[in-house]
Amino acid sequence: MLGSIQNEKSTSAQNIRWRIQIIQVKLLKVQRGEREMKTIVFLNNKGGVGKTASVTTIAHMLAARHGMRVLVADIDPQGNASNLFGTTDFIQLIKARREDVRRKETYHIGDLLVSTELDPREVIRKTAYDGLWLLPSYPTLAAIEEKLKADIRHPQQFRLKEQLDRVRGDYDFCLIDCAPSLSILNINALVAADEVYIPTLTDDGSLFGIELTMTELVDEVKRYAGNLSVGGIFFTKFRSKLGISRYAQELLDAVYSELILPFTINENVAVAECSHKHMPLLAYDPGMKVKATRDYAALTAYIAAKQEAEGRNA
Ligand SMILES: Nc1ncnc2c1ncn2[C@@H]1O[C@H](COP(=O)(O)OP(=O)(O)OP(=O)(O)O)[C@@H](O)[C@H]1O
Ligand SMILES: [Mg+2]
Repeated sequence: MLGSIQNEKSTSAQNIRWRIQIIQVKLLKVQRGEREMKTIVFLNNKGGVGKTASVTTIAHMLAARHGMRVLVADIDPQGNASNLFGTTDFIQLIKARREDVRRKETYHIGDLLVSTELDPREVIRKTAYDGLWLLPSYPTLAAIEEKLKADIRHPQQFRLKEQLDRVRGDYDFCLIDCAPSLSILNINALVAADEVYIPTLTDDGSLFGIELTMTELVDEVKRYAGNLSVGGIFFTKFRSKLGISRYAQELLDAVYSELILPFTINENVAVAECSHKHMPLLAYDPGMKVKATRDYAALTAYIAAKQEAEGRNA
């Protein structure tokens, strides 16, 4: 009994020492102006697998539970992450378009991709949440894609990376939300990223989405953007009663077993409800009563701890 109390005490003393060391390393880096942003992209070529839910929930948790300064970059023309954080004033946007004027409030991530002179700080907006900023999307981002492909003066894959590099010192993390496509926009997201996480459902289409994402995007980008590594694959909207199909299990065991993370996000209606209420999940369920909130908290803690460890080993 006494031994176990002493063990607990020494573990908590070790934890405190560890946290103090982390804070010291962080302070030193801030003093030296060396704070480096880690950029993570959430991608699966299949739609509706929980990319936006993961980005918005984990970004907010990194800020609210881990004291990180986080930028959400929304490179999906659907703009679902931008919508959730509610920074887009659609009435203002529609009026501005009708009057054919570009107001500063209508700047979005696409403007940064086509205009290298534009400063990202003019486009990034503070959200209502402490420590959380947004680089918003806009429906016309889809048209920007065509402009990018047509412009051969300047390498098209590196546009987002070059712009995010200009704010590397301002944030601890940048999380990028992507559309389900193999587009030049998603290639820009991967080139800018240090790590890619792949959320998936357990159906055949989502699993094939992993295959396409890995072979058509990740492997291609890795050839010329040496920084990129695969953080892992995790299941979302998981229903334990249905479990995982035998086919899915076989495919994962055969091809991706070493990439499957020990984190699964359970299905819960709160995840869908919070986006309708324009709130990140933890703000909607601050007491973490919902299992999916606790699942995301565990995955977020892993992502934060990994970054701390990388900082210590750097
Ligand atoms: N764990 C969950 N439990 C219940 N509903 C969820 C969960 N995760 C996501 N959803 C809901 O499923 C739908 C699709 O999720 P989400 O928008 O995050 O997917 P996505 O991969 O970003 O989709 P797209 O490819 O269209 O961008 C949304 O209505 C979302 O609220
Ligand atoms: Mg989405």
